[in-house]
Amino acid sequence: EKIEKGGFEHFMLKEIFEQPEVMRDVMRGRVRIEEGRIVLGGIEDYLDRLKQAKRIVICACGTSWHAGLIGEYLIEDFARIPVEVDYASEFRYRNPIIGPDDVVIVISQSGETADTLAALRAAKERGAMVMGICNVVGSTIPRETMCGIYTHAGPEVGVASTKAFTAQVIVLYMLALALSKGRTISHDEMRLNLKELSQVPGHAAKILELDAQIQTIAESFKDARNFLYLGRGYNFPVALEGALKLKEISYIHAEGYPAAEMKHGPIALIDEDMPVIFIATRDSSYNKILSNIEEVRSRKGRVIAIASEGDTEVARLAEHVIYIPQASAQIMPLLTVIPLQLLSYHIAALRGCNVDRPRNLAKSVTVE
Ligand code: G6P
Repeated sequence: EKIEKGGFEHFMLKEIFEQPEVMRDVMRGRVRIEEGRIVLGGIEDYLDRLKQAKRIVICACGTSWHAGLIGEYLIEDFARIPVEVDYASEFRYRNPIIGPDDVVIVISQSGETADTLAALRAAKERGAMVMGICNVVGSTIPRETMCGIYTHAGPEVGVASTKAFTAQVIVLYMLALALSKGRTISHDEMRLNLKELSQVPGHAAKILELDAQIQTIAESFKDARNFLYLGRGYNFPVALEGALKLKEISYIHAEGYPAAEMKHGPIALIDEDMPVIFIATRDSSYNKILSNIEEVRSRKGRVIAIASEGDTEVARLAEHVIYIPQASAQIMPLLTVIPLQLLSYHIAALRGCNVDRPRNLAKSVTVE
C-alpha cells in the first residue's frame, strides 16, 4: 500500500496531486486547438441529436452532482441549450416529465451508483436519449447508456472524490464546446476557449505549490465546529463541493451557499467562531462578493478567501488569502476547487481522521 501511495501519506493527497496529469489525460487527443474542434469519439454518432435536444437533464449523486451543476452553467452559457440538474434519487421517484426530445446525461465516477443507474433506466423507459460520463471503464452505467464520454482519471481510491471531479468538469467543458460548434460560438472563440482549457493543468500545478500555505491555514482552523462556504456563479457549485469535502473527511459541519443567499439565513450564524470561506475570484460578480465579505467581517466572522493573483482588495478584508491564477469564469471551478480539497485534507489529517476511509461512507453506493 505504501508503494501505491507513491510517497504520499494518503491516497486522497496523492489523487489531489495527480490532477494536472489527469487533466492532460482527459484532454489528450480530444482537444484540437489549431483545428478549433473537440473530438469525442464516444458521442460522435450522437452529436447531431445532442445538439437538437430541447432540454438536457443531468442526473447524479454526491460530488458528481456538483460537477453536473457546473455542467448546467457551461452548457447553457456556451451552447444555449436549457439544462436541469437533478439528484438521481429525486428524479427516479418524482414521475419526471421526460420524453424522446430530451437528453438525459448521467454522471458517475464508479458507474455503479444505484440511484444514478435507476434514473438512467427510468429515462430510457420514457424514450429519452441517455448518455453517460463515467470513470470506470466497462462499469454498468456505460454499458447501459447509448453513448458517453469516459473521464480517464485513473482509479480513485480515496472515498472523497477529487481527481474524478475535476476530470468530470473538464469533460463537461469539452461537451459544452462540442455542442456549441457551428451554432453558438465562432471558430475564433472556439480556439480561444480551447487554448484556455489547455492551460488548466499548468495552473493546477501552480496551485498545488500552495500546499504548505494551506496546511498552515488548516492548523489555525482545525478545531472549528462549523464552516460556511460561499461563492457566486460558477463558483457556487464549488462552494457546495468544498463544504461536502470538509464534512466527509473531517466530520466538521459545513454548508455551501450562493453568496447572495447569505442574507436569507446563514448570516444569522456568523460570529467570531464562524470561519467563512469566500471564493472571490475576479469575474462579473466580484464587487458583489466583496460586499458580502464586508458583511461577514462586520459581524466578526473569520474570512478565508480564494482570490485572483494580484488582488489587493480582498487581502484588506480577509484574514487569509489563497491566490490562484486568473482565468475566465468558465474555467474557474477547475482551479478554485483545488485549494478547498487541500484545506479539507489538511484539516482532517490534523484531526487524526481516517482520510481515505471516512466513517459511514462508501466509495460507491450500490444499494438504496
Ligand atoms: C458516494 C461517494 C462520493 C461520490 C458519490 C457518487 O457518496 O462517497 O464520493 O461522489 O457516491 O458516486 P459516483 O460513483 O456515482 O460518482
